[in-house]
Amino acid sequence: MADRLERAGHRVRGANDEVFSWYVAYFSPQGLSPVSRFRTFEGLTPGADTGKMYSMSADHLVVSLFAGAGGFSYGFSQAGLKPRFAAEIDGDACRSYELNVGSPCHQVDLGTITPTAVKSMANGEQPFIIIGGPPCQGFSTAGPRNATDPRNRLIFNYLAIVEELAPKWFIFENVEGLLTSGSGHDLARLVREFVSLGYSVRLQKVNLAAYGVPQTRKRVLIIGNRMGIDFDFPRELYSYDSGKAKKTSGLPMAPTLDEAVAGLGRASFDKSLVSDYASVTALGPFDEAMRKGNIESGVTQHFQARDNSDKAPLELLGPGQTMKDLPPEYWHDSFKRRANRRVADGTPTEKRGGAPSGIKRLHGNLQSLTITGAASREFIHPREHRPLTIRECARIQTFPDRYSGLMSYHD
Ligand SMILES: C[S@@+](CC[C@H](N)C(=O)[O-])C[C@H]1O[C@@H](n2cnc3c(N)ncnc32)[C@H](O)[C@@H]1O
Repeated sequence: MADRLERAGHRVRGANDEVFSWYVAYFSPQGLSPVSRFRTFEGLTPGADTGKMYSMSADHLVVSLFAGAGGFSYGFSQAGLKPRFAAEIDGDACRSYELNVGSPCHQVDLGTITPTAVKSMANGEQPFIIIGGPPCQGFSTAGPRNATDPRNRLIFNYLAIVEELAPKWFIFENVEGLLTSGSGHDLARLVREFVSLGYSVRLQKVNLAAYGVPQTRKRVLIIGNRMGIDFDFPRELYSYDSGKAKKTSGLPMAPTLDEAVAGLGRASFDKSLVSDYASVTALGPFDEAMRKGNIESGVTQHFQARDNSDKAPLELLGPGQTMKDLPPEYWHDSFKRRANRRVADGTPTEKRGGAPSGIKRLHGNLQSLTITGAASREFIHPREHRPLTIRECARIQTFPDRYSGLMSYHD
């Protein structure tokens, strides 16, 4: 495989000199193959009348690694494949996972636990599929001596677990930084190793807004199977524009931020309060989908800080504007330090990945920017002078309102 996977700019060169886009590539133990028709997961029958993509089968062991609060796993459950085993290092995330996904989440460090131990925790069964998104830059805590060895990175721990448990399929999700991490060598190595384990692998960069998520969110997906099945990714369904990422393709627009959050109504000032929806009936299809299954009388985790001392600068901030558009007396100290450093070392801002935004007001009539752990501090509501609430961030991530026990947001 080594000679077949050669990185040239943003491209991958195949064995017969075929050049594939770096972002859409298919690798198999037999070599590179052209895209063929979409094939469903082997052994699953399309659900006839459930409206679900696949019929539920408790026989299929789904393993969720780096499971977080369970977003990925909840989506899999909705498609009829509920994980029976999950692993995650953070205790609060595990509790939220168990509460909402409804199956066990083991609090373990996947950087130090042996793949054999993971296998026995999953009762030694061969999984149908392993899913998960390890942190791209994360290192295992194996010991300071090895802390900079790339093989100790969590993406390779994921690989080692796939090797030991030998699932029929795996889905590996990551940030787009994985494409350029280690000048692209990390990704090339990861793909090569999956292939050498016997997996046919498809790699694609996607923007989740193209699939109806109300935010632009670029992610790299690597999907592999041991049956030599080639398949295509589902076609895109929506255009999108967040002011930063944009694709207008003649397709209908993905739900906007307003469509995603307006139905939530006014945020409360009390963490524990269940607040009223904006209206008795849903304001549109996205609002309706999010309300579905919520047995509370209203909205939970939709609160803002009572302290309004920071409100003055927010009142000056227009949609799409950031801290740098405000008078300097409103800049945070950390923002000032970073902004001045950029000027001092002479590198133009655009070459340094843009100025630190500090705070940013989102556009209500566009899709949100990517939600990260900082979103409920830095993203300002399109019309109200406050940051987004946890519930608003959750909706932008398409967590339904019935999802409870959310903390903040990991990316
Ligand atoms: C990107 S988030 C996963 C989000 C999840 N896919 C979801 O849909 O909600 C990555 C997760 O990896 C977890 N993590 C980081 N280091 C870990 C480790 N050494 N062992 C297990 N989990 C770890 C983090 O706590 C975080 O929840």
